Amino acid sequence: MPIRKGATLRHLDLDGPGVRVRVPAKLNLFLAIRGRRPDGYHELVTVFQTLSLFDEVRARLSGPPGRGHHPAARRRMSVELRTNGAPGLPEPADNLAVHAALALGRRTGLTALDGPPDAEAPRTVLELHKGIPVAGGMAGGSADAAATLVALNALWRCDLGRDDLRALAAELGSDVSFCVVGGTALATGRGTALAQVLCRGSFSWVVCTAKEFLATTQVYQAWDHHCERSEIEPDAVLQALRSQDAVALGAALHNDLEPAAFKLRPELRASKEALIEAGALGVVLSGSGPTLLALCEDDAAAQDLARRVRRDFGQTIVAQSPAGGPDRLLR
Ligand code: C5P
Repeated sequence: MPIRKGATLRHLDLDGPGVRVRVPAKLNLFLAIRGRRPDGYHELVTVFQTLSLFDEVRARLSGPPGRGHHPAARRRMSVELRTNGAPGLPEPADNLAVHAALALGRRTGLTALDGPPDAEAPRTVLELHKGIPVAGGMAGGSADAAATLVALNALWRCDLGRDDLRALAAELGSDVSFCVVGGTALATGRGTALAQVLCRGSFSWVVCTAKEFLATTQVYQAWDHHCERSEIEPDAVLQALRSQDAVALGAALHNDLEPAAFKLRPELRASKEALIEAGALGVVLSGSGPTLLALCEDDAAAQDLARRVRRDFGQTIVAQSPAGGPDRLLR
C-alpha cells in the first residue's frame, strides 16, 4: 500500500510534539503445544491476556529546520532508538521496535533506514521507556514493536487499519500480533491467529522475575528433546474467565513449556512449589519464562504474597489482568 496521499514529510510535523503510545505486557494463561511445524516453529493453542505492566514508546520526527522537507528526503530518513537505560535491552540493530519501524516503512513506501543519522535528512526518533521486565517471557520486546507500529502509523500518517497492522506484526514475531490488539485472546498457529474471548472482571497477580536469563529458543529446543505434544484444551481457563472465578482460574492455569524450562532451570520448579505453599491460587510460567506468575484472590493477598516471597526472586511486582491494549496517550 503506498503512503497516503499528502503524507509526504513536507506535511508531517518535523520537530512537532510527536506521538506517545503506552503498551501492556502479556501473559499466557494457557499454552499447549501440538507439535513442531514444518517451518520450525511450534503449533500452539494459547490464551493470551494483557497485564498492567507497561512500556511507553515515544516517537517524533526531527530534522534540520527548512531542510529535509522535500519528499525525496523520505528515502534518506533514519530511525534512531533511545532507551531509558534498562539493562539487557537488545542493541538498536536487533531491537524489535526498530524492526517494526523499518517494516512499516517498507509496507507504506516510506523508506526508513537504521543507519547513522544523516545531518541533512530527517530522523524518526523512537524513545523506549521500559516498565515491563526485560527478557522475562512477558513480551516486552513484542509490546515495544506493537507500540512502535501504532505510534508510527499515526506519526507517519500511514492510516493502516488494525488488521493490516496485525498482519505486519505477525512478520515481526509470534507475540506481536496479540500485543497490537490486547485484551484477552485465544490464539492458534504460531500464536498469531487470534480470536478475542470474554473475560469478566480482573485478576490479581504477583509477577516473580528470575535472577537468571532464559532464552526462548533454548526452551523450545528443550521441549523438542524432552516433551511430547499434548492434547489438553483451554476450556477450563475460558470458563473461569467468563465466570470471573479466580479459584477456578488458578486450578486451570497451564503451560506446556514448564517441563522444558524446569529441565533447564530446576530452581524454577522449586520456586513454583514455594509460591503455591505460600498461598497462591495457582502459578504458571510466563510464556517461555523465566518469570513465574502467581494468581491471588485480590490485590491485598497479592501484596502480602509479594512481601513474603520477595527474597527468592529478582523482583516481585503486583499487577492486574486484563489491561487493555496499546493506548495512544494525550500529551
Ligand atoms: O516468533 P518469535 O521470533 O517471537 O519466536 C522466538 C522463538 O521462539 C522462535 O525462534 C522459536 O524458536 C520459538 N517459537 C516457536 N514456536 C512458536 C513461537 C516461538 O518455536 N509458536
